[in-house]
Amino acid sequence: MTSRKAFLGVLCICAVALSACGTDDNAKSTGGDNDAGVGTDTSAAGADAGAADAGASSSGGGSADAGSGSADAGSGAADAGGSKMPPNTAPSAETKKLWALITDYAKWTEFNETKKMPQSKSHQNMFVHAYYNKVVADFIKTGKKPPLPEGSILVKANFKTKDAPKPAALTVMHKLKSGKWYWLKAMGNGNVFLGPDGKTPAEGTTVKTCIGCHTNMAPSGNDLVATHVFGK
Ligand code: HEC
Repeated sequence: MTSRKAFLGVLCICAVALSACGTDDNAKSTGGDNDAGVGTDTSAAGADAGAADAGASSSGGGSADAGSGSADAGSGAADAGGSKMPPNTAPSAETKKLWALITDYAKWTEFNETKKMPQSKSHQNMFVHAYYNKVVADFIKTGKKPPLPEGSILVKANFKTKDAPKPAALTVMHKLKSGKWYWLKAMGNGNVFLGPDGKTPAEGTTVKTCIGCHTNMAPSGNDLVATHVFGK
């Protein structure tokens, strides 16, 4: 095994751990969820099929205090036979601002590359749709090569099954003024997933799992974007 492969392997394990996949798609919520998966509702619980994932996460990620993040989800127990609430936490102020910018993401333009809803080996075998905002659309029209401009947002909606009514997770990249991407992995209610250590929220400009894998998987010179090559 080459070290690069080993590295990728580790990343993938991390990705699985990171997923611990909070899904609110089966949440026994009392309605009011919006289909797009973004909302301010509180349908947090619903740890449906997360059972297997969550288990993998705690063994693989060896999270020290899985307890704190999991909070046992009371209601989730009924759903998933005692599975824990996938580890997640309330969004930071910065993430809340980003959340407000993506509420209508499902109406944005979708990358042609994901229109058939491919299954993502990198994103926990979820079925994915990836969308971009107007800043990116305008950038694409220029035919320029990356970097993408400030304000660019890419949203990937990750579904457990092809016909799941709502995404289990949203993964988001937002280009900041600094030129860095702000990375986010959140549930449909805006809560942020915790990383493989069971502590660090997957939000901000330094989320290692996101950056590490995108650095490897994205074509070079493409600003860490994997789905679509810009300025061809
Ligand atoms: C194990 C590798 C891996 C990890 C970890 C990973 N990604 Fe990705 N990501 C990919 C690949 C490959 C694609 C494109 C193909 C696909 O969807 O699987 C992608 C696609 C995306 C897209 C659509 C735009 C694009 O760049 O193609 C977004 C947004 C995204 N990822 C965000 C994230 C965020 C946020 C994290 C961290 C929470 C993350 N990713 C972690 C590999 C990864």
